[in-house]
Amino acid sequence: MTTAFINIKELIQVRENHIRKVSGNEMKILPTLKDAFLIIEDDTIKAFGTMSEFNDSHPYEIIDCRGKMIFPTWCDSHTHLVFAGNRESEFADKIKGLTYEEIAKKGGGILNSALKLNDTSESELYNQAKVRLEEITQLGTGAVEIKSGYGLTPESELKMLRVIKKLKENYPVEIKSTFLGAHAFPKAYATVPDAYVDLIINKMIPEVAQDHLAEFIDVFCEKGYFNPEQTDKILKAGKKFGLEPKVHVNQFNSIGGIEISVKNDALSVDHLEIVTENDLDELKKHPKTMAVALPSCSFFIDIPYTPARQIIDNGLALALASDYNPGSSPSGNMNFVVSLACIKMKMTPEEAINAATLNGAYAMGLSDLLGSISVGKKANFFITKEMSSIAFLPYAFGSNLIERVYINGKLITY
Ligand code: NIG
Ligand code: FE
Repeated sequence: MTTAFINIKELIQVRENHIRKVSGNEMKILPTLKDAFLIIEDDTIKAFGTMSEFNDSHPYEIIDCRGKMIFPTWCDSHTHLVFAGNRESEFADKIKGLTYEEIAKKGGGILNSALKLNDTSESELYNQAKVRLEEITQLGTGAVEIKSGYGLTPESELKMLRVIKKLKENYPVEIKSTFLGAHAFPKAYATVPDAYVDLIINKMIPEVAQDHLAEFIDVFCEKGYFNPEQTDKILKAGKKFGLEPKVHVNQFNSIGGIEISVKNDALSVDHLEIVTENDLDELKKHPKTMAVALPSCSFFIDIPYTPARQIIDNGLALALASDYNPGSSPSGNMNFVVSLACIKMKMTPEEAINAATLNGAYAMGLSDLLGSISVGKKANFFITKEMSSIAFLPYAFGSNLIERVYINGKLITY
């Protein structure tokens, strides 16, 4: 079926050539077409242009978008949206002044989520996750990466990854799966952490790979979690089984995680709230690796924001993601992420939108398929409510400006 969306006030992120990401000053440029049309056939973008070029003699289904804009859907390259229950009790502790680290030491944090997850059946876990997936789709996300990492035993990690697989099978949103067995050390391994590293390497990774349950491998490289040597071993073991690294680094401390990740050819390094000159140099030497900022995590646990200006002004590429998880970012709203990036990280609306679309797609290995309005890419886009300018979207934070979401050319109705 062929559908023409006409009289679009502004069509955002139109790219004729298939560039895979934008870096440095390129991020300032967000190509758009005013008074535009967009033609899709089945699940694919067929054509776009200005209304003066529109040929209305074809028997298209016509959808009039007067006053409204069309954006490619958000590409959220970092989430943990499969989890059991919530952690509001920690939220109360946080308000009283406890830090993320202090809450973790009290038995909260990742281990708290792991306890809950171990007690939750696979079908219940799926039912909880699908509600979140449907919610973020309505909020304009058309591609999402989801991590394991709240299981921390071979059985529960596989359970999480099977839930992600089932979401992939049952939903049209593009989903990428990441094995994050190295998210925290389970209590039983507190005094023998290297034995847990061995379990990940010798048992979990081979089983994950055998069942084709993940595309990527992740490690939480941080003081009190996995050190750079352990991170290196785990990334290397994952790569042997075809899992590409995407790594949690520099959330609280710069301990060499960026260096280890780029040396392992990581597709992305995520968090980067703390970045040194040496870290920036490593990133400059390895343009393959995308830096990913997670501003709703900074907002929620009240830590520094990733220094976006420093990263972009050094010529580097930056993506934005939600980090949707129960502990540090209980929201997967990419519209809010884009607002925070502008307000708190001083990114321009154009930079933030590039970071949340094309660069986000790159950070999941999806930029040939998604992330821009380009002929041949998937017809994943959203139509806004009537809007005065692009900047209105991050400016009007907290408002839902999305009217309709199309995934693979189909209107999402849940
Ligand atoms: O990306 N920092 C590590 N992992 C998650 C938080 C996990 C949690 O607190 O449950 C993050 O922020
Ligand atoms: Fe995370």
